Amino acid sequence: MECADHPPLPPTPIAYDGARRVLTGNWTGSSTVPSRALYPHQWSWDSAFIAIGLRHLSPVRAQRELETLFAAQWADGRVPHIVFNPAVPLGAYFPSPDFWRSSTAGAAAGAPAGAETSGIVQPPVHALAALLVHEADPAASERRGFLRGIYPRLVAWQRYLTERRDLGGRGLAAIVHPWESGMDNSPCWDPPLARVEPAAAGSFHRADLDHGCPADRPTDLDYGRYVRLAAAYRDHDYADDAGAALFAVEDPGLNALLTASEHALAGIAAAVGADPSDHLVRGEQLTTALLKRLWNEDAGLFLAHDVLHNEPVPERSAAGLLPLILPGLPEEVAGRLLATVRGRHFGLGSVTDLVPSYDLCGASFDPARYWRGPAWFNVNWLLERGLRRHGATATADALRARMVRAAESSGYAEYVDPVTGEARGTRDFSWTAALTLDLLTRPA
Ligand code: SER
Repeated sequence: MECADHPPLPPTPIAYDGARRVLTGNWTGSSTVPSRALYPHQWSWDSAFIAIGLRHLSPVRAQRELETLFAAQWADGRVPHIVFNPAVPLGAYFPSPDFWRSSTAGAAAGAPAGAETSGIVQPPVHALAALLVHEADPAASERRGFLRGIYPRLVAWQRYLTERRDLGGRGLAAIVHPWESGMDNSPCWDPPLARVEPAAAGSFHRADLDHGCPADRPTDLDYGRYVRLAAAYRDHDYADDAGAALFAVEDPGLNALLTASEHALAGIAAAVGADPSDHLVRGEQLTTALLKRLWNEDAGLFLAHDVLHNEPVPERSAAGLLPLILPGLPEEVAGRLLATVRGRHFGLGSVTDLVPSYDLCGASFDPARYWRGPAWFNVNWLLERGLRRHGATATADALRARMVRAAESSGYAEYVDPVTGEARGTRDFSWTAALTLDLLTRPA
């Protein structure tokens, strides 16, 4: 049944102008920083979401956003989660290029010699973004050869994840660091992370706390473990070797985006005159693997799976709802996911205005701290599409209106308290602005 307790508000021109101001201010000339202070380089999945919004302001700038990111792609196909701007001082962000040492430690894996990047990845939203960017202005895209240029790079990126990252041999990609999920300190990572010895507290300096409120950010203990995992991967030359991994988890969010991007690749293949059938088959195979490996009937959503200990992680996260974006999801699974979104664990339309990142009833729920409860605009943007895809149009309309209102009233916050809507994290955050523009511009 559709909820009618939060009637949609009409979108406002003020929200549009504010979002445009944020994206203009965060543009560097070839890409967009997520935030001038907290994240002063280019981030991988941020750029994909940013391109989705930028296409409404300038389709060519949106194309360049993705092209700049893919110019730093490694020869093994991986797209690094950060591409560093050499003009930014080393101390502005940690871990900085001298920590990752991609051009030397990553050389065997094919890191570019002419750019410094991180060595881990983020969820593959890029093919979906590239298709949406193309569709915003097919003539401009054709003129610049945008799709033709990026298609083989996108294929190599997807193949990196489906082939080299299938560490469990179960037909799904595994993450080797919590940052790779994009949902850094989700309680889903607590059990596998608890087995990782943290780096010594005094061995690194957290630049994020120079710009962010500590209560909104991951804890020092979590950071110690992030540093240990990244250093171990680097010291293993960024080789994807299940035997050496200290952390390997199949995340339903990343795998849902991988699957959605495989379907988007089919659309891109058709547009460039290539054969889309391989992508469609792979998309179906990934959907089957997601359902077989990660669907949990009792929980009513998809659960992460700890590959090293071969066990599911019994925590409900918004990542487990993201398969709602997929075509070809069995109707009964989509129906359960819709009920879970509206039910007591996520409370959409009754307790919460936007979908929280983590279970409202979970022992680790915290409405302020990064990915342990706050609502994020990228997750809600994806779920808004998923709701619409599965026929929950009134819920999607109401969510869309609440997202626009929350983005505007929070100053385009990085994330918000899912119950009160209070701004958390940094402000003038690029994907919040970009996705607001998309919600305001695209037909419902
Ligand atoms: N999201 C992480 C950060 O907070 C890593 O990319 O810096």
